[in-house]
Amino acid sequence: MLGQRFEAGGFFLGAPQNAGAQRILGSIAARQPKITAADREAAQRLNTQGDRAYRQRRYGAAIGGVADGRGVAAAIVLGASAVQIGTGFPRCPEASLPAVYAERLSLAQADETRLTRAFSGRSGRAIVNRFVKAFDGPDVPPPAPYPVQRGFTRPMREEAIRMADAERMQMWAGQSVRLARNQPAGIVTQQLWDEASQFLSK
Ligand SMILES: Cc1cc2nc3c(=O)[nH]c(=O)nc-3n(C[C@H](O)[C@H](O)[C@H](O)COP(=O)(O)O)c2cc1C
Repeated sequence: MLGQRFEAGGFFLGAPQNAGAQRILGSIAARQPKITAADREAAQRLNTQGDRAYRQRRYGAAIGGVADGRGVAAAIVLGASAVQIGTGFPRCPEASLPAVYAERLSLAQADETRLTRAFSGRSGRAIVNRFVKAFDGPDVPPPAPYPVQRGFTRPMREEAIRMADAERMQMWAGQSVRLARNQPAGIVTQQLWDEASQFLSK
């Protein structure tokens, strides 16, 4: 079971509307125990069906807002069996982001990311730019449903990459953006492991 929290960068799968999503979901600490409780219940249900292989495994990965060893350790302490990290990696050279996107990632604060349906019709957390802000205007029609809106914005998004125009680019990023490291992915992964192990051994 994957529990995605609203801090997460990129597509947000929890709720179709931004406002609803922001209201419904709480903090990391509030969410994770609920996720793992549901996970235990699911495992118990299967238990009665005698599925031993499933029963012996712990499921419940935390997704969203984790990009350092402290966050990994916190998720594990709260009951997660794994974490999935998104925003913590796009600054790694392997991601080969457009230079202006990489630059915005290096500068953005957590509150400069926002859930928006502007790019695809489906909620996703992106760095706020002129296009994202334009969708907040009072007279702006709501975006078309996914994936129609995605088709509408494709030419703009592609041109934004060609023209290096960050104001019209889809720049997915989560609230952990300040924790993302500009180092090779293998090194970042090792650092996360070492930091988390240190916290968990205290
Ligand atoms: C740059 C970037 C691209 C992403 N692309 C996708 C995608 O194509 N499809 C998807 O389901 N999720 C996508 N995600 C969401 C991740 O799978 C994951 O849910 C999220 O990044 C986890 O939260 P975090 O960013 O706080 O670590 C993307 C996230 C980022 C940061």
